[in-house]
Amino acid sequence: MNQAVTVSVDQGVALVTIDNPPVNALSPQVIDGLDDAIDQASRDASVHAIVIVGAGRTFVAGADIKGLEQLAWGSDSGAPEMHALLEKIEDTPKPVVMAMHGTALGGGLEVAMAGHYRVAVPDAQMGQPEVNLGIIPGAEGTQRLPRLVGLEKAIEMCVSGKPIKATDALNAGLIDRIVEGELAAGASSFAREVAARGGKHPKTRERQDKLPPRDAVPSMLAAGRELARKTRRNLEAPVAVVDALEAAATLPFAEGCARERAIFFELAKSEQAKALIHAFFAERGVSKVPGISKDTAAATIRLVGIVGAGTMGGGIAMACANAGINVRLTDATEAPLEAGLATIQKNYDVSVKRGRFTPQMVEERMARIAADVGYHDFDEVDLVIEAVFENLALKKEISTAVDTIAKPGAIIATNTSTLDIDDIAAATSRPSQVVGLHFFSPANVMRLVEIVRGAKTSPETLATAMAFARRLGKVGVVVGNCRGFVGNRMMFPYMYEAQFLVEEGATPRQVDDALTGFGMAMGIFAVDDMAGLDVAWRVRQELKQFSEPGARKPLVADRLCEMGRFGQKTGKGWYSYGDDRKPQPDPEVLALIEQLAVAGGIRRRSFTNEEIIERTIYALINEGARVLDEGFALRAADIDVIYTNGYGFPAWRGGPMFYADRVGLKEIYDRVATFHRELGQRWAPAPLLERLAKEGSTFKEFDRSRAGSLVGAS
Ligand code: 3HC
Repeated sequence: MNQAVTVSVDQGVALVTIDNPPVNALSPQVIDGLDDAIDQASRDASVHAIVIVGAGRTFVAGADIKGLEQLAWGSDSGAPEMHALLEKIEDTPKPVVMAMHGTALGGGLEVAMAGHYRVAVPDAQMGQPEVNLGIIPGAEGTQRLPRLVGLEKAIEMCVSGKPIKATDALNAGLIDRIVEGELAAGASSFAREVAARGGKHPKTRERQDKLPPRDAVPSMLAAGRELARKTRRNLEAPVAVVDALEAAATLPFAEGCARERAIFFELAKSEQAKALIHAFFAERGVSKVPGISKDTAAATIRLVGIVGAGTMGGGIAMACANAGINVRLTDATEAPLEAGLATIQKNYDVSVKRGRFTPQMVEERMARIAADVGYHDFDEVDLVIEAVFENLALKKEISTAVDTIAKPGAIIATNTSTLDIDDIAAATSRPSQVVGLHFFSPANVMRLVEIVRGAKTSPETLATAMAFARRLGKVGVVVGNCRGFVGNRMMFPYMYEAQFLVEEGATPRQVDDALTGFGMAMGIFAVDDMAGLDVAWRVRQELKQFSEPGARKPLVADRLCEMGRFGQKTGKGWYSYGDDRKPQPDPEVLALIEQLAVAGGIRRRSFTNEEIIERTIYALINEGARVLDEGFALRAADIDVIYTNGYGFPAWRGGPMFYADRVGLKEIYDRVATFHRELGQRWAPAPLLERLAKEGSTFKEFDRSRAGSLVGAS
């Protein structure tokens, strides 16, 4: 017996406990331990039933993704070898009851489905999220799940990767009982019941009753494939998982398992699996920040004051209310405050219509947001988030005002997207308690928050901001204080390059199509129209010195703004918008672009999509390399998390820096150097890109070797 799995016997029930922190992943030790435990319990004549539980916070959260990562990168080991174990569990004459709490995911659910019975606590969740890692279930999940819940439900679960809750699982037939109260005790008493009942205990692999009749299968599979294509755009695994499920419905169990295994191994080594596994660990990695440990005292945020009830402030208020945090929302006058509240209500109403919230949930959330002109209760808030528009003088003025009202120890955060945190901190008497919280619009939806560390931001303030972001259900990435921070700083060259491309002869539609074809959630011109062209216009006016003197400046965007074409909100921007709000190319804009380009002496020609991708995405990567080298991002992987969570970069490409590694840094560097020669100084290769390319290295290697520290860290 090993330490990862222990057995204790009580009143005829062997309680097998899996203990492999943090999430009881299926390491080889766990698999061996379970195998031994089943043997031991089978031999013990005093044992009449077996219960398998997970120690700590969860049942089994899946195969060990570290092992899968090795497999993805070419190792022959790393895939959990579970067929023999699952067969042994299922063939045990004594009843085996799986007792689930926390999350039974992936391989965890696959183990559970090999048991004869399953019970769970009310808040347990079960799912097959493998597609989110670019793979499909590899331990017979695609063969057992449809035998328990039916083909349609299995398709839905495996394609979406979303876990279901215990009640849903009970209704679907995935579990047999919900246990209220202590799980091991409840599961043991259930086990005694079924043991006393005697007879044969159900083997999932032998069940046929939930599988659909042959003639119903094709339409279910077609619907599944359609679902995969529509909802999981560009992903290979959600389509492939339907193939494995098809095998469950059409082949004998053993043949179905062989089919699943073949698909699993093919996908496990795919580019998408490499990228998505990278994205998984990158996201977990962002919480590791030098100078911050589990012992760094993070304050609890009970009450948040938000200044500014516009799009950002309102969205942040909703994010807080959704997380159960009370908010005091304020603005300069009644009118914007009322408009802001009305927008919040309207957004919640849409959520009710879409079935995301019940009216009661909305009522509870609205009750958490108290709005008032003036800084009511701001002497009680634990955190102030200033979310007025990008104007340094205004932001400083507000920070000074709240500093005099807020209690000592309260944190002042600014939701700036480009301005200097240290300037804002200097306007207060508590610079160590000032931090940037750069939310993304809509703030109640977007997962990313850049947490900007100023020169004087204390570790405690940073730890509090990180914990706060987590509580909101967001991914908080700590970044240094440079202009535009990480995301927007990289965005500027990307956006400029797109605009130069249209001046040089591409159209906004062609650039956007190339970018969405690459996998970006939206094209850059459609994004600009959605965000509002006036936003960037204001930033350009605020940061007049943004471009180097003499550097080429885009010609068109300012003109569009002068014409009142602010994007979707005015029905016209780079595109024009009808009632369906779909972007339509506008001849007026195309003519304007051409006219300005010709007047500016720009030579126009046609572009291939490949050129468009190189000009835009490589600009992003080159700037990313600078940001990394200068220490404003801790890791290349952090940049990837920022871009996949805040800027619509496809996670299946891992993020811009991971993508660069996969293309090869030498190839990227060579293209950047060519652009430098042909297009001028703005394409000067980032020194880090040049160095890594010449060393034959990668950003991933750089991350491994770097003992990171942020510029501006105290
Ligand atoms: N393997 C290895 N490590 C894992 C893991 C896994 N399956 N799941 C989580 N971890 C690690 C995380 O990397 C993190 O490590 P760290 O503390 O060193 O950074 C730690 O466990 C805690 O994870 P989270 O920070 O994500 O904790 P949360 O409480 O927020 O979430 C969770 C817990 C819901 C279990 C979430 O971690 C999760 O979704 N994990 C992945 C689940 C999954 O995809 N399972 C399927 C795996 S593939 C599979 O099973 C193939 C099979 O079909 C053969």
